[in-house]
Amino acid sequence: MTNILFAASECVPFVKTGGLADVVGALPKNLDKERFDVRVIIPYYTCIPGRYRNFFHYRHHFFMDYAGRQEHVGIMEYEYHGIKYYYVDNEYYFNGETPYSSDLKWDIERFTFFCKAVLAMMPVIGFRPDIIHCHDWQTGLIPVLLHSTFATHPFYQGVKSIMTIHNLKFQGVWDIDAFQHNTQLPDYMFTPDKLEFHKDANMLKGGLVYADYITTVSETYAEEIKTREYGEGLDGLLSSRKMSLRGIVNGIDYSIFDPKNDKKIFYNYDVSDAITGKAENKRRLQEELGLEQDGRKMLIGLISRLTDQKGLNLLSDVFEGRFLDDNTQFVLIGTGEPGYENAFRYFAGRYPGNVSANICYNDELAHRLYAAADMMLVPSRFEPCGLTQLISLRYGSIPLVRETGGLKDTVQPYNEFELTGTGFTFKEFWSEAFLGSVNYAKSVFFNYRDNWNDMLRRGMEQDFSWNNSAKQYEGMYEWLLGKN
Ligand code: GLC
Repeated sequence: MTNILFAASECVPFVKTGGLADVVGALPKNLDKERFDVRVIIPYYTCIPGRYRNFFHYRHHFFMDYAGRQEHVGIMEYEYHGIKYYYVDNEYYFNGETPYSSDLKWDIERFTFFCKAVLAMMPVIGFRPDIIHCHDWQTGLIPVLLHSTFATHPFYQGVKSIMTIHNLKFQGVWDIDAFQHNTQLPDYMFTPDKLEFHKDANMLKGGLVYADYITTVSETYAEEIKTREYGEGLDGLLSSRKMSLRGIVNGIDYSIFDPKNDKKIFYNYDVSDAITGKAENKRRLQEELGLEQDGRKMLIGLISRLTDQKGLNLLSDVFEGRFLDDNTQFVLIGTGEPGYENAFRYFAGRYPGNVSANICYNDELAHRLYAAADMMLVPSRFEPCGLTQLISLRYGSIPLVRETGGLKDTVQPYNEFELTGTGFTFKEFWSEAFLGSVNYAKSVFFNYRDNWNDMLRRGMEQDFSWNNSAKQYEGMYEWLLGKN
């Protein structure tokens, strides 16, 4: 049996702000239980809903040297859908209404504490992982601590670590003095070949230097992050570690995203009755959102954090008069930068029958939009994997994506001569390129509906469940431990 411990800052269903939580929630469940004992550890945030928290039980507590104090570390435990979850309790660090604060320095202190607590608690609960699988900057210090503070303790000998990058843009960077005060890490670690980054300390960089292996969430992103354009200042380091770096594309949870059994949508369907099923969902969603009820209009959706990363400017730049026309409707769900929120509120106010801007995160509405939309937009500047395009394919809403990262790996461009492909794509990060692709999609939708419908069905038949990706993770774990 191979023991694996996932360490992360969020995990579905307990706490989620993005796709990271979906992956940490789904991957452990999909690994072979006969060969892997996988457990997950996250902070014990007070914002975890009571319907879960009330079932957690106390396992242990101890005091740990941190930031010059003795800090309390409580360990809570809960078994859910066959997986054991641990939660690091410390009210000073993990209370609040959201998992992250708006103060990066404070978050760095909180997650540094979390990293140390994860390692300190393992002998206490008697679980010795063969591999600690760390996700994103919040857990970047774990590989570092394995090679420093915890290196001489026999319990940790041979414990390996993997660092998975879900988003390289966020690295956890703060000044070295504060960082060293909290962690007590030795001076020699704060050099440019280790944790130092432009005279500051960088948590993710530490993880990438010291982890035994690095992964990211698609093959294309694994290539892109070795270049200056996408490397966020770490391309040199990532290139030097290229022999220990690979991409494994994410899946989605097919039990949650299943148009045949999804209770959140108006009308269930599968590939055999997708055209009529989706038409019914569209009609009902138009009604719910106060849009003109007209089945002939092309309904285009977007579900996203409203940030520059997601390419929102490509859309907002050309929205009026060019993207939107009388035959098109647009529905947005998401929150983010105020400039985008206001722009889309304005469009909705100006074109009430054709535009609906839902500035919120509403999971039920999101499912209904996936079921109703003819097309979903994912024009990201960069996208490590992206989950919306996978969900769109599953629900027969054709994705239109920029050819980057996981979007490139999962959406095959439509070829009108061979009648192949599952979506529309464009390459240059430029409004005109985006608009060109939208116009092409519109022409297929309005003039070649049979081809459109065939493409929609091809998309629904793709397999982006976790099966395949989980096998790749299993192979990597065993390879890393010399088992295959
Ligand atoms: C981040 C990335 C996204 C990826 C997700 C899960 O949110 O931005 O592309 O799908 O992590 O790995």
